[in-house]
Amino acid sequence: MASKKTVKNRTTRQARKKRYAVVGLGGRSAMYTRALYGDYKAHGQLVGFCDINQTRMDHWNALYAEQLKVKPVPTYKPEDFDRMIREQKVDAVIVTSMDRTHHRYIIRAMELGCDAITEKPMTVDARKCQAILDTQKRTGRRLTVTFNYRYSPRNSRVREVIQSGAIGRVLSVHFEWLLDTVHGADYFRRWHRDKRNSGGLMVHKATHHFDLVNWWIDSHPEVVFGFGDLVFYGRENAEERGETRFYHRCHGSTYAENDPWAIHLAKNPKQKGLYLDAEHEDGYYRDMSVFGHYISIEDDMAVLVRYRSGATMSYHLTAYSPWEGYRVMFNGTRGRLEVFCEEKSYVSGAKNDFNMPELRQLEPIENIERPHIVLRPLWGKPVNVPYEQARGGHGGGDVRLLHDLFVGGRKDPLKTAASHIDGAMSIMTGICANESFKRGLPVRVDELVRIPE
Ligand SMILES: NC(=O)c1ccc[n+]([C@@H]2O[C@H](COP(=O)([O-])OP(=O)(O)OC[C@H]3O[C@@H](n4cnc5c(N)ncnc54)[C@H](O)[C@@H]3O)[C@@H](O)[C@H]2O)c1
Repeated sequence: MASKKTVKNRTTRQARKKRYAVVGLGGRSAMYTRALYGDYKAHGQLVGFCDINQTRMDHWNALYAEQLKVKPVPTYKPEDFDRMIREQKVDAVIVTSMDRTHHRYIIRAMELGCDAITEKPMTVDARKCQAILDTQKRTGRRLTVTFNYRYSPRNSRVREVIQSGAIGRVLSVHFEWLLDTVHGADYFRRWHRDKRNSGGLMVHKATHHFDLVNWWIDSHPEVVFGFGDLVFYGRENAEERGETRFYHRCHGSTYAENDPWAIHLAKNPKQKGLYLDAEHEDGYYRDMSVFGHYISIEDDMAVLVRYRSGATMSYHLTAYSPWEGYRVMFNGTRGRLEVFCEEKSYVSGAKNDFNMPELRQLEPIENIERPHIVLRPLWGKPVNVPYEQARGGHGGGDVRLLHDLFVGGRKDPLKTAASHIDGAMSIMTGICANESFKRGLPVRVDELVRIPE
């Protein structure tokens, strides 16, 4: 029988809310901090912020004090990370810093006995990925990668239909993802455009897509081959198209005033507080020209993957598209599943100005096609597969993800929660693709990383 003291200790532990620290207080951190101040405050407590930039941490503390009437949380610089964990008795670290820094905090958090929750991508290259996997194995701590797209009802439905066997065994996948000239362009304005920081869009962005495929078809990548290049953004490409007026960053540039590619930090209070007012500390310019020098990531990428299951995939990512969304098709032994999702149908700007007079007469399409999932059985009529229409970020995925993170305990027959292995396998497709861009040859995943048993 448990002693009175043990029962008391257990009760105290149960009553104690989990204590969370957030590392990297940029735009994305707000999803987690607002959740812990709001809907999930009964389940977890925010106890520390850590960032290289004090102004950004102070910005959030002041904003939340004003908007949410909460007390500021203690702030720490990276060199005081260990002290933060100790002083604030942190149970779990939420990592939302720049991608190339994720591994440092994930690894140290686990070494200090904490669990870690990290934004995608788990990290940016094979060496860092291996270090994370080895540390997780050594420490036994839990590492969760927050793949919000899995939680969107549309994407969960795809997993469910494939898992049901409706199209039989998946033999091949054809996947195209388009980023438009607002969202796609944004990766070319700031740190992401240096491949060392983000792994390029093959890792930073496509980690979402490659994770979805791994999860949808329940397999892992084995061999990857690809071509990728910078063909639209960047100074040289703009010069090729006849551009002659360039600027380094939008703020303070007269050229940028009427440029549809520019963003104006001073006119947007959120961006001003978070970035413009903070840049004197670390030189982080959020508004560089997408047609500037020194862009080392690709904007157009074509990739072929063979999975352990034997399935193959052809994948294309374009970052300068007029509309945003995706199409994915699965061919199986019993039929085909087709998914279409137009997240944004166009970016408004000047009037249509086609060279061909006949095209200029055409009326713009006002009603965009609704997202849909079509199941086409072999020897049968196609059906539209219904799914729950969800609101909120990433197709309704963000809000469902937060519930799993901070409350948990729900049944998960689709295995939606993503582990460190899922995090690793999702980035390895992109990391191998990056290697293949350089070598011009197919690259095997097991050549670059060893997944611990
Ligand atoms: N899942 C999603 O859909 C989604 C959406 C947006 C961003 N993200 C991820 O969230 C992370 C942050 O993105 P963001 O848009 O907020 O970027 P951001 O530039 O707004 O913020 C990054 C923060 O990291 C901090 N930082 C940089 N170096 C650091 C270091 N060495 N130690 C501690 N902090 C450091 C910066 O000062 C900044 O506050 C990225 O990994 C990104 O991939 C995910």
